[in-house]
Amino acid sequence: MINEQKICFSGVQPSGNLTIGNYLGAIRNFAAYSEAYKCFYCVVDEHAITVRQVPAELRRRTYETLALYMACGLDPEKNTLYVQSHVPAHAELSWILNCFTMYGELSRMTQFKDKSTKHADNVNAGLFTYPVLMAADILLYQTDVVPVGIDQKQHVELARNIVERFNQIYPDTFTMPEPIIAKNGKKIMSLAEPTKKMSKSDENQNAVVYILDDKDTVIRKFRRAVTDSDTRVRFAEGKDGINNLMTIYSCFTNKSMDEIEREFAGKGYGDFKLAVGEVCADALAPVQSRFRELLADKAYLEAMMKKGAEEAAYYARKTLSKVQKKLGFVPLPR
Ligand code: TRP
Repeated sequence: MINEQKICFSGVQPSGNLTIGNYLGAIRNFAAYSEAYKCFYCVVDEHAITVRQVPAELRRRTYETLALYMACGLDPEKNTLYVQSHVPAHAELSWILNCFTMYGELSRMTQFKDKSTKHADNVNAGLFTYPVLMAADILLYQTDVVPVGIDQKQHVELARNIVERFNQIYPDTFTMPEPIIAKNGKKIMSLAEPTKKMSKSDENQNAVVYILDDKDTVIRKFRRAVTDSDTRVRFAEGKDGINNLMTIYSCFTNKSMDEIEREFAGKGYGDFKLAVGEVCADALAPVQSRFRELLADKAYLEAMMKKGAEEAAYYARKTLSKVQKKLGFVPLPR
């Protein structure tokens, strides 16, 4: 039987509080795919432990990330929402793919280079092979499309290399995945250092707007955002701070850069920053109230978690068994 429906897969780490960068660059767009694709959205707790986690916080954030998926509009009846460690096939395929990934390839990953500098006291092998686990996530579901932020594109490209190599030796094993970078998936930058990506692990709390920040906090953070010595709201080279604020405003309002320039012609940066804060806070408000409702109902969250894991495990097993058979592993005699 030919399965006509194309597959979409993406993952979010339950480490740190999610930012508007995660929201605008990835999660907000996830819901749009469930019409056209069969979608798997995973809370990747196994990826999270490549850096040290406090167990109670990892546990709490795993629930929160699942709740946030739903609060951002992902219906658990239409999408498979689940936790990575609930489906052991991820770790199993990851080992296999390790044997089809080259040391040199992994050494070239920019995220590894960044993270190993940042966590110089803990450059563990998991940090190095992180993209292989990510490839396993994607390939287990015979994924066609992977919506990700631009910073993850290199990892999806590695998954594509693995598919090519594996399928060359064992034909027709994996589907070739394609990254989808959101239309205005331009990176959202730090409000304090607008040449750096907005990161949930930034120590400067004013640099980052979290999805769960209340209105006053959102407005205060935007008011403090770094700009420049020019006074006009316009998108131009060298105006990293304003460019970033315009990108954020554009993502929330769907207005083009030209429209934004016209809207704020003759107005100062103060007015503009307040407007960005307001559209952001207003867009986050309904997500936050739904999120609180969901978190208050742990039984429901757990029921969805279980259902998602069972669905995911069914598809994951199919691919894993196929791979094991192709490799020459003896199936467990029945
Ligand atoms: N590495 C991704 C990130 O940090 C998360 C992730 C893990 C992922 N597995 C994935 C994203 C598979 C897309 C597909 O953002």
